Amino acid sequence: MAILEKHKILEKNATLLLVFSFLVVTIGGMVQIAPLFYLENTIEKVEGVRPYTPLELKGRDIYVREGCYVCHSQMIRPMRDEVERYGHYSLAAESMYDHPFQWGSKRTGPDLARVGGRYSDEWHIDHLTNPQAVVPESIMPKYGFLLNRMIEPSNMKERLATDRAVGVPYDDEMVANAVADFRAQANPDADSSGLEARYPGAQQRNFDRQPGISEMDALIAYLQVLGTMVDFSTFEPDPNR
Ligand code: HEC
Repeated sequence: MAILEKHKILEKNATLLLVFSFLVVTIGGMVQIAPLFYLENTIEKVEGVRPYTPLELKGRDIYVREGCYVCHSQMIRPMRDEVERYGHYSLAAESMYDHPFQWGSKRTGPDLARVGGRYSDEWHIDHLTNPQAVVPESIMPKYGFLLNRMIEPSNMKERLATDRAVGVPYDDEMVANAVADFRAQANPDADSSGLEARYPGAQQRNFDRQPGISEMDALIAYLQVLGTMVDFSTFEPDPNR
């Protein structure tokens, strides 16, 4: 009996076809999925990517709270139009410390994955306070109230410890200094050596240009770090991957 003849038996018997289909899918599934259980991590580590500073993390929480992700994605796809508009395509490592990730699913506004350093702090203050004053046709809501909401960082230690529980490598020193680092980053006169040692490259200044630490400080600190951790002038993808 030719192989095609044998296959006819399968095709004519629904139950047999179902049993064999199930077998094929099971084997295929095992081959695909089983190796993943034996891998520690499927994300390629990339130099420069570090956990968020306490101030940036707070800004990220505000970004999530205000639903910025409803209109903004943070994921540049490796296609020419995107790379030319937004910069180097996003690497998995760049969102490995995001819980939950902010890739988003809709772009009512532009992608923000590399917005860090693209505009000045003043631009962000003006834009967040009144987007239409900067981009007249903008439909982005106004967030000026963030300037009036001061942050009391007393629970910052617990906040870092929570992210540590889900795998972000905050060490004991980072957790212990969470409140001090939070205050130091928004104060240009504070000693930044501890902050810099724990979070290399952390930007330190008065982000909202007014006294005290407001939610605007935190949000702008977060926006200004987005996409800036990896130095793409020296980055090379791992050839073994
Ligand atoms: C209703 C949709 C909507 C929401 C919600 C929204 N935005 Fe926007 N955003 C836009 C649109 C549209 C633009 C483009 C026009 C403009 O610049 O205002 C934009 C532009 C921006 C830009 C400038 C990006 C660039 O590359 O020019 C930033 C930064 C930004 N938004 C941040 C935020 C943040 C932070 C939040 C949350 C606090 C937020 N947006 C919430 C719609 C939105």
